[in-house]
Amino acid sequence: NQVCDAWNGYDEAQCGIQASSLSKILIKGGTVVNAHHQEIADVYVENGIIVAVKPNIKVGDDVTVLDATGKYVMPGGIDPHTHLAMEFMGTETIDDFFSGQAAALAGGTTMHIDFVIPVNGSLSAGFKAYERKAENSCMDYGFHMAITKWDEVVAEEMEIMVKEKGINSFKFFMAYKGSLMVNDELLLEGFKRCKSFGALAMVHAENGDAVFEGQKRMIELGITGPEGHALSRPPMLEGEATTRAIRLASFVNVPLYVVHVMSIDAMEEIANARKSVMLSCLFVYSEIDNDIDRFLLKDGGFYCITYMVVNISLLENSSILTRSLKALLSSSDKFIIILGFPCFIIFSYFRYVMSPPIRASGHNKALQAALSSGVLQLVGTDHCPFTSTQKSFGIDDFRKIPNGVNGIEERMHLVWHTMVESGKISPTDYVRLTSTECARIFNIYPRKGAILAGSDADIIILNPNSSFEITARSHHSRLDTNVFEGMKGKGKVEVTIAGGRIVWENDQLKVVPGSGKYIEMPPFSYLFDGIEKADAKYLSSLHAPVKRFNSAT
Ligand code: URP
Ligand code: ZN
Ligand code: ZN
Ligand code: ZN
Repeated sequence: NQVCDAWNGYDEAQCGIQASSLSKILIKGGTVVNAHHQEIADVYVENGIIVAVKPNIKVGDDVTVLDATGKYVMPGGIDPHTHLAMEFMGTETIDDFFSGQAAALAGGTTMHIDFVIPVNGSLSAGFKAYERKAENSCMDYGFHMAITKWDEVVAEEMEIMVKEKGINSFKFFMAYKGSLMVNDELLLEGFKRCKSFGALAMVHAENGDAVFEGQKRMIELGITGPEGHALSRPPMLEGEATTRAIRLASFVNVPLYVVHVMSIDAMEEIANARKSVMLSCLFVYSEIDNDIDRFLLKDGGFYCITYMVVNISLLENSSILTRSLKALLSSSDKFIIILGFPCFIIFSYFRYVMSPPIRASGHNKALQAALSSGVLQLVGTDHCPFTSTQKSFGIDDFRKIPNGVNGIEERMHLVWHTMVESGKISPTDYVRLTSTECARIFNIYPRKGAILAGSDADIIILNPNSSFEITARSHHSRLDTNVFEGMKGKGKVEVTIAGGRIVWENDQLKVVPGSGKYIEMPPFSYLFDGIEKADAKYLSSLHAPVKRFNSAT
């Protein structure tokens, strides 16, 4: 059997033949978990679609049978936030659509939504470029679109993207001054356009002007190493941009998705908005990044897996190095500078540089709690991998270190271990956070995000008694390091089925370049329900004082 993986290359013919012979699959006796219900049942798959979910399904002998007794059968993960083959900070992320997706499949993720970056501000040129990048895809994918400048052409192209290209979300960067950053005027124009087409507005919430000022401070103080990165952009700048975006979205009355929530400061603004009466018509969603114990969740309302798992506590395990690093990072909250930091610590910190930065421990625990209580709704990865060589572009100046860490392969394991195995959430919650809610928000449920008759056959089998260990030596990304290096846990994805093909089994990948489909995402997801009513209420509240005035005179 030819093994097709991103490191060793692949034999298209052999991989194709092997995979396409597996079009009928029966998964027997597992606990089938959906976001609202779990039961012991069989799952029968034909031609890439789930045909039946019920106990004791009988099939002929042309069917591949997988025994899932004692294991969980769940919808494949959907990663709402990735950057494959992304040109950024003078270089390009090391995973392309093939290697990044192969890694994803090995970790139980069967769909991702990547960010199209416009070419010189042009959305259509950006879309074409990403269509080409994604040609060798081996799993399903969708696109968000970044908005990096504003004019009539961009405003019109937004409509084309939504109505003709299957894009229903736009990301606005409030940081990265001088490259991707937009000002409040553009943010308001963009929010209005999003509202008119039923597209979701997403923000990278950090105050880019203040980050720029923070970076100048660091350089003036002679702090040029990677520790300057987190010190220059403390949590308060994430909190400020988060509340500004929330209030502007509320002013326009449009749903908002805050990507990569990395701090208590940002999370509390989201929590306040979600319980506030003034903002009750506003839906704030957020993800949390990957860094579960080092960092846990990122995207707003969405938490990045990095922040969820990789908080700085991971570093606490190794003695003096980590104690200094921890001191340094906690000081970043208060802007107290520790000088004379040993440079070998600084060296190892290069690989942790991402934005918003990984915070001191404490933030991640709070973010995990926010995820289990529903303040945050999704876990994304912000998979944006740069090798040690690429990271070393910033050896003399932290401002030149390409921002981003890995996570696409690790997310499903880390969320299971950190949240389910530890008892913080149930398996049904797990399915909601890693798959179903993403499918609902981006309007592709129940085609994706469910194990139901008629859904796409994107399925994982997770063995709760098996264990995983993360290391760059065995992962499937092209990255030479891993931000989660050495992390171990319980609960392992033993089988991944994508589009009805068994692509991961017995620790082997069998992926087919070109087999992944572009998933068009229609506008006006459920987040837009009730928007018109709220607008009408707002308008009548404006007329009310006039009426009172008229009747009094
Ligand atoms: O550090 C990060 N997050 N790099 C990717 C770009 C972004 O802001 O999402
Ligand atoms: Zn971002
Ligand atoms: Zn993110
Ligand atoms: Zn990102």
